[in-house]
Amino acid sequence: MNSLRNFGRGISLNNNYESWKINKYFLVQSLSTPGFNEEAINHAKDLFEVLDGYWNSLKKSQSCNENWFEMDFVQWINRFMTDNISIIITGERGCSMSSYYHTFNSDKSILESSLFDDPKVYNSDKFTQAIKAYLRGVSFFYFVHPFLRRYVPYFKNKANSVLESRDYMLKTIDNIIERRTFDFVNTPQKLKSKHDLLTNLITANHDAKSKMTEFLPDQEIRTVIFDMFLAGTDTSSNTLCYIIYYICRNPHVKQKMVEEIDLVFPNSSDTLCITTNHLTRLKYCEAIIKEASRLMPVLPVAKRVASAECEVAGYTWPAKTIFQLNYASIHMNEKYWTNPTVFDPDRFYLQNDLGELNDDLNNFDQENKKSIHEKDKHSLVIFGGGIRSCPGKKLAMINMLSFIALTFKKYDVELMDVDAPLKTHTDFIIHCLELKIKIKPRK
Ligand code: HEM
Repeated sequence: MNSLRNFGRGISLNNNYESWKINKYFLVQSLSTPGFNEEAINHAKDLFEVLDGYWNSLKKSQSCNENWFEMDFVQWINRFMTDNISIIITGERGCSMSSYYHTFNSDKSILESSLFDDPKVYNSDKFTQAIKAYLRGVSFFYFVHPFLRRYVPYFKNKANSVLESRDYMLKTIDNIIERRTFDFVNTPQKLKSKHDLLTNLITANHDAKSKMTEFLPDQEIRTVIFDMFLAGTDTSSNTLCYIIYYICRNPHVKQKMVEEIDLVFPNSSDTLCITTNHLTRLKYCEAIIKEASRLMPVLPVAKRVASAECEVAGYTWPAKTIFQLNYASIHMNEKYWTNPTVFDPDRFYLQNDLGELNDDLNNFDQENKKSIHEKDKHSLVIFGGGIRSCPGKKLAMINMLSFIALTFKKYDVELMDVDAPLKTHTDFIIHCLELKIKIKPRK
């Protein structure tokens, strides 16, 4: 694992408490800068329009049955999230969706008349693939012995390709940081209206240095950005796949959800001015996200290492004991959940008491009044718990709620085969391998 060279650096795989603490502090500060959330919503909206443009364009070339457009949702949402996280985190627009779109047609006239960005500018679909390969590689490095990785050709080749993905990602990130630092030094006025994480980090770090307080060593900015891509893209995109799957399998849930979306956005153009205030009113949508994530937590297990002797469950454990936290099993425990295998967003939703529900997206995975009867404090751990819990949960919620509202305000969505089981693969996270859906504009 050490040969991934991430231990002691960044955040998510960092086992050095001191550097982790500083990195997480700067990250949390930068994520809570004023304007960050509204900008995140604006990016989600803009990118949805781009995605919608691609879907419409492809629909013309598909011999559509009754106006339905068919697709593998996994492929699109994965690219959407990479482009989304890319602009939120670095302030630079990725071209993952456009690269993917262009794989569908070799017709030059369509390519040339395309309103959308040019994949040749830089191939960020390669970046999306690198994130995937690296994420899978984390568990490969964890489980496969260093001897095999170094000396047995099959494992050695696999290890090399993981390391190549990591290096490609780091190189891309370094280039972005270099451009932003140049702007910060030479044209700081250009950055005044920017609220992306990288600009916030560079600014906060510069302020900390000038006040002689604790600051980030330069190479840590790249590892924090690197971690954000790893932790933010596949988690959000796979969770959205499971959400869409459960919504489509449960028409009564879909109906109730669409009614809520129509209540919050009465006119079809209203989603164009979506704000955090709108999102906090989508309580049933929030309940659906919780329930889908309870049944299918994208991160099913996590680990903790005891830094000193400790007592857990009435036993004393020596320092360095590794604890495996089985989040997926906690979500299925009958002690905390009635009918745990049933998809029932209502367990998180109190219909006639909207005003008293939690209005803060920060507290997304905390209790609400109804579900408190069902579970104890740590029985819903979609975003983990304790000091290592997810710092991106509010951003994740903003992205997922925006996407659901935008999609279901505009489209009827159905599974191509409602009886087909979910196809998944589990390594570090649970990947959705395929989700064939069809969409058509709502009447
Ligand atoms: C639906 C989306 C997401 C889910 C389900 C999710 C879930 C999680 C979970 C369960 C953990 C804790 C792991 C543990 O207990 O050890 C975690 C950690 C983390 N997440 Fe997320 N996450 C999501 C989105 C994001 C986003 C959008 C970002 C940032 C852009 C992010 C950044 C991180 C980071 C940096 C950590 C490591 C925290 C630490 O080690 O201190 N996550 N996430």
